[in-house]
Amino acid sequence: MGKVKSAYFCQNCGAQSPKWIGKCPSCGEWNTYIEEVIRRDGDYKQAHDLSYLKPIDKPQLINEIEWTDTIRINTSDDELNRVLGGGLVPGSLVLIGGEPGIGKSTLMLQLALNIKNSRVFYVTGEESSQQISLRAKRIGKENPDCYILNETSTQHIFKHIERLRPKLVIIDSIQALHTDSIDSSAGSISQIKECAGEFHRYAKMSGTPVLLIGHITKEGGLAGPKILEHMVDTVLQFEGDRNYVFRILRATKNRFGSTSEIGIYEMQQTGLKEVSNPSEILISQRDNNLSGITIAATIEGIRPILIETQALVSTAAYGTPQRSSTGFDARRLNMLLAVLEKRSGFRLGVKDVFLNIAGGIKVDDPAIDLAVVCAVLSSNEDIPLDPNICFAAEIGLSGEVRAVNRIEQRIMEAEKQGFKSILLSKFGMKGVNRNKYKIEIIDKGSIDDVISYLFR
Ligand code: TYD
Ligand code: MG
Repeated sequence: MGKVKSAYFCQNCGAQSPKWIGKCPSCGEWNTYIEEVIRRDGDYKQAHDLSYLKPIDKPQLINEIEWTDTIRINTSDDELNRVLGGGLVPGSLVLIGGEPGIGKSTLMLQLALNIKNSRVFYVTGEESSQQISLRAKRIGKENPDCYILNETSTQHIFKHIERLRPKLVIIDSIQALHTDSIDSSAGSISQIKECAGEFHRYAKMSGTPVLLIGHITKEGGLAGPKILEHMVDTVLQFEGDRNYVFRILRATKNRFGSTSEIGIYEMQQTGLKEVSNPSEILISQRDNNLSGITIAATIEGIRPILIETQALVSTAAYGTPQRSSTGFDARRLNMLLAVLEKRSGFRLGVKDVFLNIAGGIKVDDPAIDLAVVCAVLSSNEDIPLDPNICFAAEIGLSGEVRAVNRIEQRIMEAEKQGFKSILLSKFGMKGVNRNKYKIEIIDKGSIDDVISYLFR
């Protein structure tokens, strides 16, 4: 038995050090170094033999490299294709992160069952094959060329890959795997790094796309070393509130496409269903005479979506007024309330304010500001607003109504969804041809103008 070799790894960024250090010199975090055994004997074991794939490339002159437009593999899922930038690229390594229970395994299994004419290899390290097959039954799709394996050792997985020669490999999840070439436990930084490295080499050499499911940490980042995100070609984030049915798939990194596309799904009894017209579902059916409800014309990625915001303002029952916000930044809500208090004289400091974005969706488009402010005012005054009006503008600290980007896209979406008018900033109207639209365009410059238009 050789010497035990170990090193210290930063659990935040994956940096390595021969001895313990308090502050990571690479990412600046404190107390993140943990000792991990790397290998027990001196020689580096070749993890597995990939020589059956292809001889190693030799250097080529850049002008002589032949290329064709990358042929993309159609995933049979419009939302996923869109987020990937037009389909799966052969030889690409894709990482899908998301909270537990959000639907990562479901999404990947659907992909495995839907894909046409390709042999798919789905490796599960977390659930049994029976569980996967049960899930496949719920989804109700069949793919006669889809193989499931319950395995966590990459050496064994690659042996099966060599025999099966799949056209697509799915790993559920990268944290569950371990490789013999490193002795630390599964899920540790060095294991994740090495396992991902092995699949990276395999994907590049064989031209087979590999999809890795990754866990996320409490803070919402992908668990494992930051280097994992550098290694892969595409990072997809699957998000949403588990108590609601909507899920959003975003690319946070994509070497083969834009990162501004999003995919929207609805979790149903039979798996995830693509949502092609999200606005229709996010606006709830309601009676006309409820106060505190407004519709915002927002842009998620590059898709316009109409979203309902609901506010409840009531006199504080206890000493300190409560502020609570779901789907919208609580600090931003406090700022908007302060603007209303200071610039327009509403005494909101003594009121409880609750804000909710319908559908469990998180919005960070600043254009939702105006809808939030109007919902708060509508609830405060207990005056319902016209359900046929929607809003899109940012609010500045001095109470000005500021312009937002992609204004025409928002107007068109509002018109498409049957709204009669849209309230915008008067500073963003340059180049907007009002005669083009049937929807009435109202433009205001300050909160006070908006208030006198809506409430007086
Ligand atoms: P899962 O894909 O296992 O999530 P993850 O792999 O991200 O941890 O499933 C997420 C949830 O979805 C689970 O609580 C059950 C639910 N679900 C449905 O509602 N309908 C379905 O058809 C399936 C397969 C799952
Ligand atoms: Mg899972």
